[in-house]
Amino acid sequence: MAILPIYEVPHPILKQVAAPVARVDERVVRLLEDMAETMYAAPGIGLAAPQVGVSERILVTAVPVREGVSREEEADEELGSRSYLTELVNPVITEADGLCVFDEGCLSVPDMVVEVERASRIVIEALDRHGQLFSFEAHGFYAVVFQHEMDHLDGRTLVDRLSPLKRRMYLKKLKKRRRNGPGSDERPAVAGS
Ligand code: NI
Repeated sequence: MAILPIYEVPHPILKQVAAPVARVDERVVRLLEDMAETMYAAPGIGLAAPQVGVSERILVTAVPVREGVSREEEADEELGSRSYLTELVNPVITEADGLCVFDEGCLSVPDMVVEVERASRIVIEALDRHGQLFSFEAHGFYAVVFQHEMDHLDGRTLVDRLSPLKRRMYLKKLKKRRRNGPGSDERPAVAGS
């Protein structure tokens, strides 16, 4: 397994609509494993393939799906840990209802937290690493993590949710920071994904 470089805005691959995976083969399984390794190392709670430079509909999260449900538990201490991993290929949301609001961070959008409103309950259909179709329900914060990752597959990131002025200022700040090298100690309030 390998830790892959994470692409950050405004890299153009993050704006592309990712292509469906035609066949879940050894290459895809290796990518899933490298993506999980990269997510845990970051650390993050979710990662989509475009974030590692692969424009395909593949994502991993460090939130679990158990018996067809991914439900946020009280004091979920293992969130983000290696014991939690969900791998999705060609995921599709087939049901969505309710509303919830969370502050979201993203590994591709450093030092930025954005308040986002999303569905509070979703049903997802996807292929697993064996190419088998499965579906599950996700609730609350877990539903948010999956929706955030699926946005990446459609070329959307948190910067698209900023006003044009805020986006311009943020990208300018990021460019300046890159020119000056690392040194910022600002971190997002929530784990990035
Ligand atoms: Ni993200």
